[in-house]
Amino acid sequence: MSGLLAGKRLLVTGVITDQSIAFSVAKVAQEEGAQVVLTGFGRLSLVERIAKRLPKEAPVIELDVTNTEHLAALEGKVREHVDGLDGVVHAIGFAPQSCLGGGFLDAPWEDVATALHVSTYSYKSLAMACLPMMGRGSGVVGLTFDATLAWPVYDWMGVAKAGLESANRYLALHLGDRGIRANLVSAGPLRTMAARSIPGFDQFEDAWTQRAGWSLTDQEPAARACLALLSDWFPATTGEIVHVDGGYHAVGA
Ligand SMILES: NC(=O)c1ccc[n+]([C@@H]2O[C@H](COP(=O)([O-])OP(=O)(O)OC[C@H]3O[C@@H](n4cnc5c(N)ncnc54)[C@H](O)[C@@H]3O)[C@@H](O)[C@H]2O)c1
Repeated sequence: MSGLLAGKRLLVTGVITDQSIAFSVAKVAQEEGAQVVLTGFGRLSLVERIAKRLPKEAPVIELDVTNTEHLAALEGKVREHVDGLDGVVHAIGFAPQSCLGGGFLDAPWEDVATALHVSTYSYKSLAMACLPMMGRGSGVVGLTFDATLAWPVYDWMGVAKAGLESANRYLALHLGDRGIRANLVSAGPLRTMAARSIPGFDQFEDAWTQRAGWSLTDQEPAARACLALLSDWFPATTGEIVHVDGGYHAVGA
C-alpha cells in the first residue's frame, strides 16, 4: 500500500454524517493507505451506515468521551482491529443550546460544565485512553475554531476552544518525552451538524465566503491538514495550531 499514511493505524472519532470533518479525515486517510477505526457516539447504527460510505468500510466502536467505562474499555476494543495506533483524531464538540447563540451571560454552570467536559477535557481523556497503544512518532490531532478572538454567537463554545488550545500545549508538554505529538487544526466554518446547531452560524458564513478559496462545504482541506500532522512529514511539530481557514486569522477585514 502506498500513500502518505501507508501502514499507519488511525483512530478517528466524531463521524456522525458524511458532512462530518471526521468523515473526510477517515476517507482521505484510507485513500492515503491508512487503516482506520472509527468511534461513534450515541447513534451507533447511523455511524455504521455512514462508515459503509468510506472507500473501505471501517469498524465502529462506541465511545461517549465523558463516560469513564467507555474510555477504560477503548483499548481492548481498538485492539480487536489493530495492534496499536499511530494517530488519534479528536473531532468532537458539543455545547448545550444555552451556551450558544448569544447566551453567554445567562448560561448556567451545569451547561457550561458539559460543554467543557465534551469539548475540552475530552481531548486529554481520549489521549490517555489511547496512550498504551501509542509509540514514539505517533500523534494526536484535534479541531479548534480560532479562540484568540470572541466571536458573536460562539459564546461558551469559544471558551471551550480556548481551553482546548491550551490543553493541546499541555498535552504536547506532557507527552513529549514519550515522543508523542499533539497538534490542532484551526478550521474556518464548515456546514456540519455541529455547526448547524449554533443559532446565527450564518454570520460566520457571510464573513468567510468573501475570502479567497474558502468553501463552506469542503471539509477536505481541514481533513488533509489533520492527516499531514499525523504523517511522517511533521516529525518535530507539537503543541502547534495550523490554521486552515482561507487565511482569515491573518488578514484584516
Ligand atoms: N464545522 C465547523 O465550522 C468547525 C470549525 C472549526 C472546528 N470545528 C470542530 O470540528 C470538530 C468536528 O465537528 P464537525 O464540525 O465535523 O461536526 P459534527 O457534528 O459532524 O461532529 C461533531 C461530533 O462530536 C460528537 N460528539 C458529541 N458529543 C460527544 C461525546 N460525548 N462523546 C463522543 N463524541 C461526541 C458527535 O457525535 C459528532 O460526531 C469539533 O470539535 C468542532 O468544534 C468545526
